[in-house]
Amino acid sequence: MDKPKVVLGVSGGIAAYKACELLRRLTESGHDVRVVPTASALRFVGAATWSALSGHPVATEVWDDVHEVPHVRIGQQADLVVVAPATADMLAKAAHGLADDLLTNTLLTARCPVVFAPAMHTEMWEHPATQENVATLRRRGAVVLEPAVGRLTGADSGKGRLPDPAEIFEACRRVLARGVREPDLAGRHVVVSAGGTREPLDPVRFLGNRSSGKQGYALARTAAARGARVTLVAANTSHLPDPAGVDVVPVGTAVQLREAVLKAAADADAVVMAAAVADFRPAAYATGKIKKKDGQDPEPVVLVRNPDVLAEMSADRVRPGQVIVGFAAETDDVLANGRAKLARKGCDLLVVNEVGERKTFGFEDTEAVVLAADGTETPVPHGPKEALADTVWDLVAARLS
Ligand code: CTP
Repeated sequence: MDKPKVVLGVSGGIAAYKACELLRRLTESGHDVRVVPTASALRFVGAATWSALSGHPVATEVWDDVHEVPHVRIGQQADLVVVAPATADMLAKAAHGLADDLLTNTLLTARCPVVFAPAMHTEMWEHPATQENVATLRRRGAVVLEPAVGRLTGADSGKGRLPDPAEIFEACRRVLARGVREPDLAGRHVVVSAGGTREPLDPVRFLGNRSSGKQGYALARTAAARGARVTLVAANTSHLPDPAGVDVVPVGTAVQLREAVLKAAADADAVVMAAAVADFRPAAYATGKIKKKDGQDPEPVVLVRNPDVLAEMSADRVRPGQVIVGFAAETDDVLANGRAKLARKGCDLLVVNEVGERKTFGFEDTEAVVLAADGTETPVPHGPKEALADTVWDLVAARLS
């Protein structure tokens, strides 16, 4: 099979150097990438770098290799165009259809999905001119990622950082695999919990679990792509980059997770509990490190029950019509245990995974059955965690409408 053809447009911002990592991720995962920088982008990262990393010649103007009519061909042949970083100037040109260099021409000739990853100072991003340009591009079907919040060029920080290259890469993969989704969750607020809680024993030790957080992050990412405002309550997931355009609330323990989820759920249309919440925590926390003592057996660890956040939210619904989704990892009698758990927890949907050696935890792919309180079952075949996430949102969206 031919490799998917991706055009990586790079416009002139300091974040151009981060596009090198995006380029590497794209090429290493089997995409044929043609880099089309603007002249300003080349002032930050030179043509030799783009050419060496992509294995293709690099041009910025329509006057290079005119006999090959590159300004038409590159766009027409692309399966995806991603512009990273997309400056305020580039978003304005794209929104107004200007075509004064090779990249802007390519944007007009491309008929494939287009992803913009903006990067600029907060004032430029928030300016009504930029916001209107972004709205125009989104209305026409382009995916414009939300910039990340953090350190900007120089000493200041705020919204406007280029989303993490790993996140832009995920957005590209998702759009290539499934096209641009209808924003069927626009105007909705959804809460997703992800990761695994850690219940401290002393300042250096905790009881934890093997949840990687990837399924919860896939849920957050796909909901944002479908237009939702997303709050992601993330338990111990510092190894994962923040999904673009998602509010991330970091937590550590089950008690902290409960507080953050209940607060965010107050005005939420849906809550998806993908986090692995510890059922028990140590009854006592030692403020100093627990030391071994010669000739003595260790003290037994006494555990107490944690609150069951899913059961509590399902029993005391804060908003009528709120859809509540749980996850269950089972090793035996998967469906029977899943049905019993759905009834016990009182949620609307329960995603049941079979876990075991080389299954689910930490792996990129998954397979599940979604059980609904109305008795229906939706099997989700083995595939990426995003595909399962999209099925969950399909079922949630159906219940919200
Ligand atoms: N959950 C929760 N609060 C807890 C424990 C779990 O909200 N204290 C949520 C999880 O986020 C998940 C679902 O409940 O969505 C399933 O949790 P699980 O631990 O499998 O359920 P249990 O009732 O503990 O069942 P079992 O002990 O049989 O595994």
